[in-house]
Amino acid sequence: MQIRKAVIPVAGLGTRFLPASKAIPKEMLTIVDRPTIQYIVEEVVASGIDQVILITSAGKSAIENHFDYDYELDHVLTKKKKHVLADEINHISNLIDVVSVRQKKPLGLGHAILQARHVIGDEPFVVLLGDDLVLSDQPCTKQMINLFEEVGESIVAVQRVPMDQTYQYGIVEGVKERDQVHKIKRMVEKPAPGTTNSDMAIIGRYILQPEIFDLLEKTTPGHGGEIQLTDALLALTNKRGMYAYEFEGTRFDAGDKLGYLKAIIAFGLRHPEVCDNFSDHLKEVASQL
Ligand code: G1P
Repeated sequence: MQIRKAVIPVAGLGTRFLPASKAIPKEMLTIVDRPTIQYIVEEVVASGIDQVILITSAGKSAIENHFDYDYELDHVLTKKKKHVLADEINHISNLIDVVSVRQKKPLGLGHAILQARHVIGDEPFVVLLGDDLVLSDQPCTKQMINLFEEVGESIVAVQRVPMDQTYQYGIVEGVKERDQVHKIKRMVEKPAPGTTNSDMAIIGRYILQPEIFDLLEKTTPGHGGEIQLTDALLALTNKRGMYAYEFEGTRFDAGDKLGYLKAIIAFGLRHPEVCDNFSDHLKEVASQL
Protein backbone atom coordinates (compact mmCIF):
# COMPACT_ATOMS: atom_id res chain seq x y z
CA MET A 1 0.00 0.00 0.00
CA GLN A 2 1.33 3.43 -0.94
CA ILE A 3 2.46 5.69 1.89
CA ARG A 4 0.62 9.00 1.68
CA LYS A 5 0.75 10.50 5.16
CA ALA A 6 3.43 11.71 7.56
CA VAL A 7 3.01 12.42 11.26
CA ILE A 8 5.32 15.01 12.83
CA PRO A 9 4.97 15.40 16.60
CA VAL A 10 5.73 19.01 17.62
CA ALA A 11 3.93 19.24 20.95
CA GLY A 12 7.02 18.98 23.18
CA LEU A 13 8.02 21.85 25.47
CA GLY A 14 11.57 22.08 24.16
CA THR A 15 13.13 22.39 27.61
CA ARG A 16 16.57 21.50 26.21
CA PHE A 17 16.49 24.81 24.31
CA LEU A 18 15.35 27.19 27.01
CA PRO A 19 15.47 30.16 27.09
CA ALA A 20 15.40 30.27 23.25
CA SER A 21 12.23 28.15 23.21
CA LYS A 22 10.38 30.15 25.87
CA ALA A 23 8.24 32.21 23.49
CA ILE A 24 8.82 30.43 20.16
CA PRO A 25 8.52 26.72 19.41
CA LYS A 26 11.92 25.02 19.25
CA GLU A 27 10.89 23.71 15.81
CA MET A 28 11.02 27.33 14.59
CA LEU A 29 14.70 27.81 15.50
CA THR A 30 16.62 28.67 12.38
CA ILE A 31 19.26 26.73 10.48
CA VAL A 32 20.75 29.25 8.02
CA ASP A 33 17.49 30.71 6.68
CA ARG A 34 14.82 28.13 7.43
CA PRO A 35 13.25 26.84 10.62
CA THR A 36 14.23 23.25 11.45
CA ILE A 37 10.65 22.06 10.87
CA GLN A 38 10.85 23.21 7.24
CA TYR A 39 13.75 20.83 6.57
CA ILE A 40 11.62 18.01 7.95
CA VAL A 41 8.60 18.94 5.83
CA GLU A 42 10.83 19.28 2.75
CA GLU A 43 12.09 15.73 3.37
CA VAL A 44 8.47 14.56 3.48
CA VAL A 45 7.65 16.34 0.21
CA ALA A 46 10.79 15.00 -1.50
CA SER A 47 9.74 11.49 -0.45
CA GLY A 48 6.47 11.73 -2.41
CA ILE A 49 4.07 12.05 0.54
CA ASP A 50 0.81 14.04 0.19
CA GLN A 51 -0.14 15.09 3.70
CA VAL A 52 1.55 16.16 6.94
CA ILE A 53 -0.19 15.72 10.27
CA LEU A 54 1.33 17.96 12.94
CA ILE A 55 0.69 16.89 16.52
CA THR A 56 0.69 20.22 18.32
CA SER A 57 0.03 21.78 21.70
CA ALA A 58 -0.69 25.26 23.02
CA GLY A 59 1.86 27.86 21.95
CA LYS A 60 2.81 26.13 18.71
CA SER A 61 0.71 28.18 16.27
CA ALA A 62 3.85 29.75 14.73
CA ILE A 63 4.48 26.36 13.07
CA GLU A 64 1.03 26.28 11.50
CA ASN A 65 1.40 29.91 10.41
CA HIS A 66 4.73 29.14 8.79
CA PHE A 67 3.11 26.65 6.39
CA ASP A 68 0.04 28.82 5.79
CA TYR A 69 -0.45 31.47 3.07
CA ASP A 70 0.33 34.97 4.37
CA TYR A 71 -1.77 37.38 2.31
CA GLU A 72 -0.36 40.54 3.89
CA LEU A 73 3.29 39.51 3.44
CA ASP A 74 2.62 38.48 -0.17
CA HIS A 75 0.94 41.84 -0.82
CA VAL A 76 3.77 43.89 0.74
CA LEU A 77 6.56 41.95 -1.01
CA THR A 78 4.79 42.15 -4.36
CA LYS A 79 4.19 45.89 -3.96
CA LYS A 80 7.91 46.34 -3.24
CA LYS A 81 8.66 44.26 -6.35
CA LYS A 82 10.43 41.62 -4.24
CA HIS A 83 9.02 38.91 -6.48
CA VAL A 84 11.67 36.25 -5.85
CA LEU A 85 11.15 36.48 -2.11
CA ALA A 86 7.35 36.53 -2.51
CA ASP A 87 7.56 33.38 -4.65
CA GLU A 88 9.74 31.66 -2.07
CA ILE A 89 7.37 32.55 0.77
CA ASN A 90 4.32 31.43 -1.21
CA HIS A 91 6.11 28.22 -2.17
CA ILE A 92 6.25 27.22 1.52
CA SER A 93 2.47 27.44 1.81
CA ASN A 94 2.06 25.33 -1.33
CA LEU A 95 4.52 22.62 -0.27
CA ILE A 96 2.00 20.12 1.07
CA ASP A 97 -1.39 19.73 2.72
CA VAL A 98 -0.92 20.32 6.47
CA VAL A 99 -3.41 19.17 9.10
CA SER A 100 -2.95 19.70 12.81
CA VAL A 101 -4.20 17.73 15.75
CA ARG A 102 -3.81 18.74 19.38
CA GLN A 103 -2.15 16.55 21.99
CA LYS A 104 -3.99 17.84 25.01
CA LYS A 105 -1.71 16.32 27.65
CA PRO A 106 2.07 15.75 27.49
CA LEU A 107 1.86 11.99 28.06
CA GLY A 108 4.74 10.94 25.81
CA LEU A 109 5.72 10.26 22.18
CA GLY A 110 3.51 7.16 21.92
CA HIS A 111 0.50 9.16 23.12
CA ALA A 112 1.34 11.93 20.62
CA ILE A 113 1.30 9.48 17.70
CA LEU A 114 -1.98 8.00 18.91
CA GLN A 115 -3.65 11.42 18.43
CA ALA A 116 -3.21 11.00 14.64
CA ARG A 117 -5.31 7.82 14.54
CA HIS A 118 -8.49 9.36 13.16
CA VAL A 119 -6.59 11.22 10.42
CA ILE A 120 -4.48 8.22 9.38
CA GLY A 121 -7.21 5.58 9.36
CA ASP A 122 -6.16 2.14 8.21
CA GLU A 123 -3.01 2.68 6.18
CA PRO A 124 0.75 2.61 6.79
CA PHE A 125 2.31 6.00 7.50
CA VAL A 126 5.62 7.62 8.37
CA VAL A 127 6.66 9.42 11.53
CA LEU A 128 9.43 12.01 11.56
CA LEU A 129 10.78 13.53 14.76
CA GLY A 130 11.62 17.20 14.37
CA ASP A 131 14.88 17.02 16.32
CA ASP A 132 16.50 14.63 13.85
CA LEU A 133 17.75 16.24 10.65
CA VAL A 134 19.29 13.99 8.03
CA LEU A 135 21.58 15.16 5.24
CA SER A 136 21.62 12.60 2.44
CA ASP A 137 21.50 12.30 -1.35
CA GLN A 138 18.20 10.46 -1.24
CA PRO A 139 15.87 11.59 1.58
CA CYS A 140 16.02 9.19 4.55
CA THR A 141 12.23 8.79 4.44
CA LYS A 142 12.37 7.89 0.73
CA GLN A 143 15.08 5.27 1.41
CA MET A 144 12.76 3.73 4.00
CA ILE A 145 9.73 3.81 1.69
CA ASN A 146 11.79 1.90 -0.91
CA LEU A 147 12.57 -0.79 1.68
CA PHE A 148 8.93 -0.86 2.83
CA GLU A 149 7.81 -1.57 -0.73
CA GLU A 150 10.02 -4.65 -0.57
CA VAL A 151 9.39 -6.00 2.94
CA GLY A 152 5.86 -4.69 3.63
CA GLU A 153 6.43 -4.37 7.37
CA SER A 154 7.15 -1.53 9.78
CA ILE A 155 10.65 -0.06 9.79
CA VAL A 156 12.71 2.13 12.12
CA ALA A 157 15.77 4.02 10.97
CA VAL A 158 18.82 3.26 13.11
CA GLN A 159 22.37 4.43 13.45
CA ARG A 160 25.28 3.03 15.41
CA VAL A 161 26.17 5.08 18.47
CA PRO A 162 29.01 4.74 21.01
CA MET A 163 27.99 2.25 23.74
CA ASP A 164 28.24 4.94 26.42
CA GLN A 165 25.46 6.88 24.65
CA THR A 166 22.91 4.07 24.26
CA TYR A 167 21.03 5.26 27.37
CA GLN A 168 19.89 8.34 25.37
CA TYR A 169 18.01 6.38 22.69
CA GLY A 170 15.56 3.66 21.88
CA ILE A 171 17.89 0.69 21.26
CA VAL A 172 17.18 -2.14 18.85
CA GLU A 173 18.55 -5.69 19.03
CA GLY A 174 18.21 -7.68 15.84
CA VAL A 175 19.52 -10.21 13.38
CA LYS A 176 21.22 -8.96 10.25
CA GLU A 177 19.30 -9.94 7.09
CA ARG A 178 21.56 -8.15 4.65
CA ASP A 179 23.55 -4.94 4.32
CA GLN A 180 21.78 -2.16 6.26
CA VAL A 181 18.73 -4.32 7.09
CA HIS A 182 18.09 -6.13 10.40
CA LYS A 183 15.09 -8.13 11.57
CA ILE A 184 14.26 -6.76 15.02
CA LYS A 185 14.18 -9.14 17.98
CA ARG A 186 14.00 -6.76 20.92
CA MET A 187 13.72 -3.07 21.59
CA VAL A 188 14.12 -0.99 24.71
CA GLU A 189 13.65 2.71 25.38
CA LYS A 190 16.72 4.36 26.91
CA PRO A 191 18.28 1.24 28.49
CA ALA A 192 20.25 1.66 31.70
CA PRO A 193 24.03 1.50 31.02
CA GLY A 194 25.26 -2.07 30.69
CA THR A 195 21.83 -3.61 30.02
CA THR A 196 22.17 -3.98 26.24
CA ASN A 197 24.90 -5.26 23.92
CA SER A 198 23.52 -3.43 20.92
CA ASP A 199 24.69 -0.06 19.63
CA MET A 200 21.83 0.35 17.15
CA ALA A 201 19.95 3.50 18.13
CA ILE A 202 16.55 4.48 16.79
CA ILE A 203 16.64 7.87 15.12
CA GLY A 204 13.47 9.81 14.45
CA ARG A 205 12.19 8.14 11.28
CA TYR A 206 9.60 5.36 11.34
CA ILE A 207 7.28 3.62 8.91
CA LEU A 208 4.40 2.11 10.81
CA GLN A 209 1.59 -0.26 10.04
CA PRO A 210 -1.76 1.05 11.39
CA GLU A 211 -1.90 -1.84 13.92
CA ILE A 212 0.37 0.38 16.00
CA PHE A 213 -2.69 2.37 17.12
CA ASP A 214 -4.35 -0.59 18.88
CA LEU A 215 -1.02 -1.37 20.53
CA LEU A 216 -0.53 2.25 21.62
CA GLU A 217 -4.00 2.23 23.20
CA LYS A 218 -2.81 -0.67 25.37
CA THR A 219 0.64 0.74 26.17
CA THR A 220 1.10 1.71 29.79
CA PRO A 221 3.55 4.42 30.94
CA GLY A 222 7.15 3.27 30.59
CA HIS A 223 10.51 5.09 30.73
CA GLY A 224 10.12 8.48 32.44
CA GLY A 225 6.46 7.70 33.25
CA GLU A 226 5.53 8.41 29.59
CA ILE A 227 3.66 6.34 27.01
CA GLN A 228 6.63 5.33 24.89
CA LEU A 229 6.41 4.65 21.16
CA THR A 230 9.28 2.16 21.55
CA ASP A 231 7.19 -0.02 23.91
CA ALA A 232 4.37 -0.22 21.35
CA LEU A 233 6.94 -0.96 18.62
CA LEU A 234 8.18 -3.94 20.60
CA ALA A 235 4.60 -5.21 20.78
CA LEU A 236 4.31 -4.69 17.00
CA THR A 237 7.59 -6.59 16.50
CA ASN A 238 6.22 -9.53 18.48
CA LYS A 239 2.88 -9.41 16.67
CA ARG A 240 3.89 -9.15 13.02
CA GLY A 241 7.59 -8.29 12.73
CA MET A 242 9.59 -5.16 12.16
CA TYR A 243 12.85 -4.11 10.54
CA ALA A 244 15.70 -1.78 11.48
CA TYR A 245 17.31 0.09 8.61
CA GLU A 246 20.78 1.66 8.68
CA PHE A 247 20.07 4.64 6.45
CA GLU A 248 22.57 6.42 4.22
CA GLY A 249 23.35 9.96 5.30
CA THR A 250 24.37 12.05 8.27
CA ARG A 251 21.98 12.65 11.13
CA PHE A 252 22.08 15.72 13.35
CA ASP A 253 20.35 15.95 16.69
CA ALA A 254 19.07 19.50 16.27
CA GLY A 255 17.35 19.22 19.66
CA ASP A 256 20.73 19.29 21.39
CA LYS A 257 22.93 22.40 21.60
CA LEU A 258 26.05 20.84 20.07
CA GLY A 259 24.04 18.90 17.47
CA TYR A 260 22.27 22.11 16.49
CA LEU A 261 25.59 23.92 15.98
CA LYS A 262 26.88 21.01 13.88
CA ALA A 263 23.73 21.13 11.76
CA ILE A 264 24.17 24.86 11.15
CA ILE A 265 27.72 24.23 9.92
CA ALA A 266 26.73 21.30 7.67
CA PHE A 267 23.72 23.05 6.15
CA GLY A 268 25.58 26.39 5.91
CA LEU A 269 28.36 24.69 3.92
CA ARG A 270 25.72 23.52 1.44
CA HIS A 271 23.74 26.74 1.17
CA PRO A 272 24.29 28.17 -2.35
CA GLU A 273 24.24 31.79 -1.17
CA VAL A 274 26.76 31.58 1.68
CA CYS A 275 28.71 28.32 1.27
CA ASP A 276 31.91 29.79 -0.23
CA ASN A 277 32.32 32.67 2.20
CA PHE A 278 31.25 30.50 5.11
CA SER A 279 33.80 27.85 4.21
CA ASP A 280 36.57 30.49 4.01
CA HIS A 281 35.48 31.83 7.38
CA LEU A 282 35.52 28.38 9.00
CA LYS A 283 39.07 27.76 7.68
CA GLU A 284 40.15 31.06 9.19
CA VAL A 285 38.54 30.21 12.53
CA ALA A 286 40.12 26.72 12.48
CA SER A 287 43.56 28.19 11.83
CA GLN A 288 43.22 30.29 14.97
CA LEU A 289 42.27 27.41 17.27
C1 G1P B 1 12.86 9.70 20.98
C2 G1P B 1 12.52 8.20 21.03
C3 G1P B 1 13.80 7.37 21.06
C4 G1P B 1 14.68 7.74 19.87
C5 G1P B 1 14.95 9.26 19.84
C6 G1P B 1 15.65 9.67 18.55
O1 G1P B 1 13.46 10.05 22.22
O2 G1P B 1 11.73 7.94 22.18
O3 G1P B 1 13.48 6.01 21.01
O4 G1P B 1 15.91 7.04 19.95
O5 G1P B 1 13.71 10.00 19.89
O6 G1P B 1 15.92 11.03 18.49
P1 G1P B 1 13.69 11.59 22.68
O7 G1P B 1 14.96 12.04 22.04
O8 G1P B 1 12.50 12.37 22.18
O9 G1P B 1 13.77 11.53 24.16
